[in-house]
Amino acid sequence: MTATWIEAWAPADGAARVRDAFEARFGAAPDGVWSAPGRVNVIGEHTDYNGGLCLPIALPHRTYVALRRRRATDGQDDVIRLASAQEASAGVVTVRLSDVAPGTVPGWAAYAAGVAWALRQAGHPVGGFDAVVDSCVPYGAGLSSSAALECAVAVALDEVHDLGLAAHDSGRAALADMCIRAENEIAGAPTGGMDQSASLRCTAGHALLLDVRDGSTRHIPFDLAAHGLALLVVDTRAEHQLVDGQYAARRAMCEQAARALGVATLRDVADLPAALARLAGEFADQADVVARRVRHVVTEIARVEEVVRLLDADQVEQVGPVLTAAHVSLRDDYEVSCRELDLAVDSCLAAGALGGRMVGGGFGGSAVALVRSGDTGRVAAAVAAAFADAGLAAPAFVVATPAEAAGRTA
Ligand code: GLA
Repeated sequence: MTATWIEAWAPADGAARVRDAFEARFGAAPDGVWSAPGRVNVIGEHTDYNGGLCLPIALPHRTYVALRRRRATDGQDDVIRLASAQEASAGVVTVRLSDVAPGTVPGWAAYAAGVAWALRQAGHPVGGFDAVVDSCVPYGAGLSSSAALECAVAVALDEVHDLGLAAHDSGRAALADMCIRAENEIAGAPTGGMDQSASLRCTAGHALLLDVRDGSTRHIPFDLAAHGLALLVVDTRAEHQLVDGQYAARRAMCEQAARALGVATLRDVADLPAALARLAGEFADQADVVARRVRHVVTEIARVEEVVRLLDADQVEQVGPVLTAAHVSLRDDYEVSCRELDLAVDSCLAAGALGGRMVGGGFGGSAVALVRSGDTGRVAAAVAAAFADAGLAAPAFVVATPAEAAGRTA
C-alpha cells in the first residue's frame, strides 16, 4: 500500500506564494513575509493547562503571512483586511481593529485579528494591516495550524511596528501569551499555550522542554537520525468530533479537582495516591472519572521527566515504551483517543515501531511513533493498509525533524 507524504514547502517557495498572492489581491508589495511552524508534541499531553511540562518540536511545515502595515495615506489606519489561500471562498475579510472583541470575528480571521487585538490590549501601538496567508501545515490534523497562523501574524506585527519582542526569548514568551489570549478570548478555544510557545520559542534541532508553571524552557538536543531513529507522524484525517466541548470539559474537571485538593494546579499534586483518596470523598458519583483524569495528568508530567532523562542519557530507543504508556493513559484515563488514533498507534506498533501515541487535543488528528530510520516507509505502508482494511480514509504521513521558530522569511 502506498503511503501519502505531506511535504513541507521550501521557505522561499512559501514566501513567493504569499508575496504573489498579496500583490495580486492588494495591488501593492507587502512590507515582508513572515512564517511560523506547526508543532508536534513528543510527550506531555493535556498537561499545559495544568501548569505541567510538555516537550514539543517545531515542524518544517509553516504558515506564511505577507503583511503590509496600513499607512495614514491608506485612509482608515484601523482597518484589517485578511485573505487566506485555504479559505479562498471567504474572499477578503475586513474588520476594524477597534471592533475586535470576543465573539465579533467569525472563522479563521479571528486567529489573525485576535493577535492584533491582544497586542493592543497589552499596550502596544498596533494599527490596521493587509495580510495574505498560505500554509503547508495540515489543517485539522492536531499539528497546530491555528497557532502557526497566530504566531506568524505576531512576528509580522512585532516587526512592522518595531516592538522588538521577537528579538529575545522573554519577548517571544510575551508574544506567545498574546497569541494565547487571541485564541482563548477572540477565537473562543480554551487551549493551554503549548502550541504558541512551541511555534515562537523552539529552536532547530531541539525539542522544547516547556514548564508552563513558570514559563521556563530548556532546549533538549533531538537528533533522532544520529541514533538511527525517526519520529513518524500519522495524520489520521479523522475529523475532530465534539472537540471543543470535550476539551473544555477536561480542562474544567482538572481545575475543579485542583480546587478540591487545595492546589493551584494539578502540577502541585505531590502524592498521587493521597490525592486520589481525597478526591474519592469529594466527588461522590463522579469519583472514578475525576480520579482517572487526575491520574493521567500527574503520570503524564512524570513521563515527560522520564523522556527528558532518557534523552539526556542518550538512551533514545527507550523513549518508545514511554510514548506507548502515554497513549494508554490518554486512551483509558483521559479518554481523548478515538478509533482512528488507536488504529494508527496499534498498527505502528505491530509494524515494529518502538512506541507511539496520539498527539494534541485528541478525538482525531495525528499520532506519532518512534521508528527505526530505515522503517519509516514500511511502517507508513502498514498503517495505510490497516486504514484501508478498516474502510477508513487514507491517512497521510510526515517524518518530523525539529525546525526553527517563527520569524521573518523574506
Ligand atoms: C491542544 C491545545 C494545547 C494542549 C493540547 C493537549 O493542542 O491547543 O494547548 O492542551 O491540545 O496537550
